[in-house]
Amino acid sequence: MNLILLGPPGSGKGTQAKLLSQHFQLNHISSGELLRQEVVQNTPKGKLIAQIMNQGELVPFDTVLDLILKQINTSPNGFILDGTPRDLSQAEHMDWFFNQNHIHLDTVIYYQLDDPTALKRLANRAREENRSDDTPQIHRERLRIYHQKTQPVIDYYQKQHKLVTIDARPDIDTIFANTLKLIPSK
Ligand code: AP5
Repeated sequence: MNLILLGPPGSGKGTQAKLLSQHFQLNHISSGELLRQEVVQNTPKGKLIAQIMNQGELVPFDTVLDLILKQINTSPNGFILDGTPRDLSQAEHMDWFFNQNHIHLDTVIYYQLDDPTALKRLANRAREENRSDDTPQIHRERLRIYHQKTQPVIDYYQKQHKLVTIDARPDIDTIFANTLKLIPSK
């Protein structure tokens, strides 16, 4: 089974992806996490990625693609793509790649959440974890980019009848249970 998770920063994509990957034994591919691993290498490329992420902007897709394709190609049971695609051209490219490689995308799960709740959760995470892009200013910028560039991707998958929408306001376990109801076990 192959899934894509969409939703604003702070909607809980990463949290739900972890639970789903354990439940279905799928490879959790987080583009943000893969980029953060590049950043800690402190190479010239890593430094450039850090600069972009710390402005809340999108990293050039070639860089992201390189990292996620390695993971997709080593996902024997299927994958959960968390954080990609982030704009329409990325979505079109992923469709092209899936077609070329006979990969079936089963479902796109959209975790819907209002901005104030997303910002509150991101602020909580900033207190608990040490993510360099977890500052109030970067949060607002990531949300702005999300509305401008990522939201059209939701309509794109809706038109393909691939999208299911989940209310991301309840607690983590309720959201997980609601997600499972919408994903038939294979
Ligand atoms: P990425 O790491 O993908 O970040 P994001 O999409 O902004 O999402 P977050 O990780 O902030 O939030 P989430 O929805 O995963 O929520 P989480 O589960 O952590 O991307 C970071 C950056 O990388 C981008 O800005 C960009 O620069 C770059 N990038 C990544 N992909 C790219 C691409 N394809 N192209 C170009 N650039 C790319 O939950 C948030 C907090 O809330 C946690 O503390 C959690 O414990 C808590 N929480 C979760 N669920 C609940 C709940 N139900 N109730 C209460 N609290 C909850």
